[in-house]
Amino acid sequence: MAAAKLDFRFDFAHTPAGRAELARLIRDEFEIDVTPLDRLGHDPSVVAFGWWAGDELVANVSLYGRTLWLAGEPTPAFGLQSVVVRPAWRGHGLFRDLMTRALAFADARAPRVTLSTETPELYRRFGFRDLAETVFRGPLRPAAGAPNARRLSLADDADVALVRALYARREPTSRLCAACDHPAPFFLKTLESPEIALHHLPDLDAIVAIEETTPEVLTLLDVVAADIPPLATIAAALGAPIDEAEVHLTPDRLAWTPAREEPDDAGAMVRGPWPLDRRAVAFSPMQV
Ligand SMILES: CC(C)(COP(=O)(O)OP(=O)(O)OC[C@H]1O[C@@H](n2cnc3c(N)ncnc32)[C@H](O)[C@@H]1OP(=O)(O)O)[C@@H](O)C(=O)NCCC(=O)NCCS
Repeated sequence: MAAAKLDFRFDFAHTPAGRAELARLIRDEFEIDVTPLDRLGHDPSVVAFGWWAGDELVANVSLYGRTLWLAGEPTPAFGLQSVVVRPAWRGHGLFRDLMTRALAFADARAPRVTLSTETPELYRRFGFRDLAETVFRGPLRPAAGAPNARRLSLADDADVALVRALYARREPTSRLCAACDHPAPFFLKTLESPEIALHHLPDLDAIVAIEETTPEVLTLLDVVAADIPPLATIAAALGAPIDEAEVHLTPDRLAWTPAREEPDDAGAMVRGPWPLDRRAVAFSPMQV
């Protein structure tokens, strides 16, 4: 390992210099701009593990805190993110070293670590297993009731405050399988995905994240609410000519029975015991 020229640093994501270097590394590798979180709010649970060459962060692995609802119980967990080694420093064991440190930290505090990846083979040696997710589809007849929805803009500070306030009161979308996180990943996913719209449904005290591709299909990505409304009521509030739903959440709290369950290879992995191996589940994709 080339660590002789490098310094290891821990938990630097909350200092201005550490945050700026982490943002630069993420932008250079993944072309994702995380600097809007300077205005929208960073996730204070992030714990960064990194190797530094002077002032330059050359390798990073971060954890963030999550609450997983699994089989009816809330349980603490970590998500793994921002896994990058700058090209010039690859092949020297920096990734393996940072994974070992991060997982030792996580193992001392929570039973599970989750991640999402396009390269699962990187993580199997660290005990991660593929987590089969499902897309739930089927007919949907909107409930009676007048439409009342307003599209939110994250450029508007009042709308951002509304999302944050509702997030602070939100319930899990499912008690069978769902994750509750800080709103930072939700904000970033919205900014990175022009096809995703956030709508406030004031009569339901809810915000929904939907993909607006076909007006007849309600493609539901997340529901932020203190009391999860039935899917038919959400459809009525949106007011579109909906006759079909495509749900990317575990739907047990939506008072709707999907006609079809299809595999969704979103690259989710989990390390630690998994009590739901035979159940059809999905985590909200409102994560970068
Ligand atoms: C993937 C990445 C972090 C690996 O960093 P690295 O420091 O070169 O990795 P290491 O030298 O610690 O290698 C550790 C092990 O992983 C293996 N490995 C490295 N890159 C791999 C890849 N793309 N696919 C499969 N295995 C890989 C190595 O062969 C090594 O195996 P060994 O322990 O048997 O020798 C780095 O290539 C990178 O930043 N890639 C681009 C960003 C990315 O893909 N991040 C993951 C997003 S989920």
